[in-house]
Amino acid sequence: MTSRRSFLGSVPALAALPRAVLAEEAPRTVHGSFDPWVEVHPENLRFNVEQIHRRVEARPILAVVKNNGYGLGVANAAGLLEPLPAIAGFAVVKLQEALALRDAGVRKPVLVMAFLAEADLEEAVRREITPLVFTPVADALERIAAKFQRTVPIQVCVDTGIGRLGVPYRRAAALIHDLAARQSVSIQGTMMTFTEDPDFDREQLARFRSLCEGLKKQGALLGRMHAASSFALFRQPDAFLDMVRPGMAIYGAYSEPEFRHAGTLELRLAVSLKARVAYVKQLKKADSAGYNRAYVARDDVWVATLPVGHADGWPRTAAKGARVRIGGELYPVIASVSASHTIVEIGREPRVQIGDVATLFDWQEGSRPEDVAAACGSSVYDLTMHLNPLLPRRVL
Ligand SMILES: Cc1ncc(COP(=O)(O)O)c(C=O)c1O
Repeated sequence: MTSRRSFLGSVPALAALPRAVLAEEAPRTVHGSFDPWVEVHPENLRFNVEQIHRRVEARPILAVVKNNGYGLGVANAAGLLEPLPAIAGFAVVKLQEALALRDAGVRKPVLVMAFLAEADLEEAVRREITPLVFTPVADALERIAAKFQRTVPIQVCVDTGIGRLGVPYRRAAALIHDLAARQSVSIQGTMMTFTEDPDFDREQLARFRSLCEGLKKQGALLGRMHAASSFALFRQPDAFLDMVRPGMAIYGAYSEPEFRHAGTLELRLAVSLKARVAYVKQLKKADSAGYNRAYVARDDVWVATLPVGHADGWPRTAAKGARVRIGGELYPVIASVSASHTIVEIGREPRVQIGDVATLFDWQEGSRPEDVAAACGSSVYDLTMHLNPLLPRRVL
């Protein structure tokens, strides 16, 4: 009988198996050697911030680390970015993530781009988290300021046409005047979000500028005006304003495939998804693979099973044409991606073996997020943000 020790010993690359650096996990957490993992590349994060900072002529960067730091882990992302002088602070969309940043020791300003009920507003202020304001909460803010005996820093969100959060630009002046007039409230920033429809973006920016200029003329202090996410970094330099607010570009993925070749901004991917080949076998002609026999072998063929599936954030639709890199070669995903498994077709020869590292996405041509997203009919946002938070993060 093969003991566990001798089985593991038979895996050639075992010495190099990932002992994940579990930056966001308690040290006692143990992950199996064959659990998929997320790699984080701090050098590339720093490179991207440098490039963005140069592109925006040294304006401060409010780094969006929402949705688990775009897959890197919210505390990993903020922890790695915080020491960089270009980073003015962080933006998330859930109070829980803002609290996680404070719990992790992040000291720079943290903005929560969400509606907060009064109790949550109070908790945010208590933890020195900046709320985003777009409803008449000035009285509540004054009560909270009185309770903590300090000025409450806030940011204001104006809706210039995206129709989500934000006070509609036509009604914004009254709300902002009221907030600006309160002694115990300090407006640190005023923001809007583009629809990323290039023609309409210009109209949105004009609405925002006209509102802010009018308010400033009347003496309102609006803090830093900001609007530019990654899209605007590439497309709209006049929207850089006082500060920029990118997410995806920091993590090094091009949010639109054409941006890679635009020559505007060089980015290096700071996150990748990996797993190890868990099984290799030969299917005989007419054998099947996957639920519903999604794949039937036209000839004898070798296939490899990877222990990673849609529950880990790897899209179900990857079987529509995504490829996985093993030992420098790209192999097509076949059959169907199940919750925890993916099957790839290796070919006539068994060219991979149990324990080989499989790259689901990384920086290399053919396995870049945009390549995988195009094959899956999804977006680079789905690929990174849907990575299961429980996967180990290995900070290189
Ligand atoms: C309000 C807001 N600002 C900025 C961003 C960052 O966008 P991106 O990741 O495209 O740079 C987002 C993300 O969707 C957002 O919702």
